[in-house]
Amino acid sequence: MTKNSDWLKILIQCKNNIQRQIKPLLKTLKKPQPNLGIGAGGDPIKQIDLAAEKAIIETLKEHKVSFTLISEESGIIKHGENPDENFLTVDPIDGTTNLTRGIPFYATSIAVSTKQVLNTVHTALVADLFHNITYTAQKGKGSHRNNSKIHPSKNTALEEAVIGVDLNTYKIKKVAPKLTKLIQKTKHIRHLGANALEICYVADGTIDAFIDIRGKLRTTDMAAAWLITKEAGGKITSPEGSPLKVRLDPKQKVAFIAANPKIHKIILETIKL
Ligand code: IPD
Ligand code: CA
Repeated sequence: MTKNSDWLKILIQCKNNIQRQIKPLLKTLKKPQPNLGIGAGGDPIKQIDLAAEKAIIETLKEHKVSFTLISEESGIIKHGENPDENFLTVDPIDGTTNLTRGIPFYATSIAVSTKQVLNTVHTALVADLFHNITYTAQKGKGSHRNNSKIHPSKNTALEEAVIGVDLNTYKIKKVAPKLTKLIQKTKHIRHLGANALEICYVADGTIDAFIDIRGKLRTTDMAAAWLITKEAGGKITSPEGSPLKVRLDPKQKVAFIAANPKIHKIILETIKL
């Protein structure tokens, strides 16, 4: 059995290996990219996504751990004698469009759980690969940004809050009206383009809330940030305020609101879904 503290070390090695392996590819992004088909999560696969996934798998194999990998790119991969002992839910690169367009906001996201469900995630890492900032969490031990413990903001004024909202959806006519009242009361709406990292910005208080009620985000993109938010002392629930009970699967979608506890309550009251 691999201990949670060992998992944290393994995840950090995964992230270091990803940074090593994608480095040469970063120089080729402006050149025409090969067509690699569609990933398990439903988006076209890029070479850089596959390189990052390969780095994760390689590192896990070096550690001789049994695992079931749940990846946005290759789907489900089982390895070792007891693959159902450890589930690793990964988005090798979250924010691929940012990365390929040269926007310095993209991350890798890895969550380790004992079952294929979100609420069993016990160890998590989200790493901002451009700035080399790593968010980690272990169940019951808080969350860290590099080596410092993090907490959400204490801001309680909606007017002053910085709120991330993902409105990337063709179903905008259905989603946007649900947020009208909220947006009318705020001055600082953002969307940065890598949701795993943007949720971690809630965990460390950089922003006050992040809302994705499209029902379009895959669990692979937010499983790690879910634990990081909770362990930091933030709230992350369904848009109605219930705990998130979702299966970890590349095709599983999730809608949620993450925020500091006070703003979370105010947002729920304001939008009342
Ligand atoms: C995407 C980012 C983006 C969100 C998309 C996701 P990907 O992740 O998190 O901010 O709007 O829905 O798919 O595709 O770059 O891993
Ligand atoms: Ca991705």
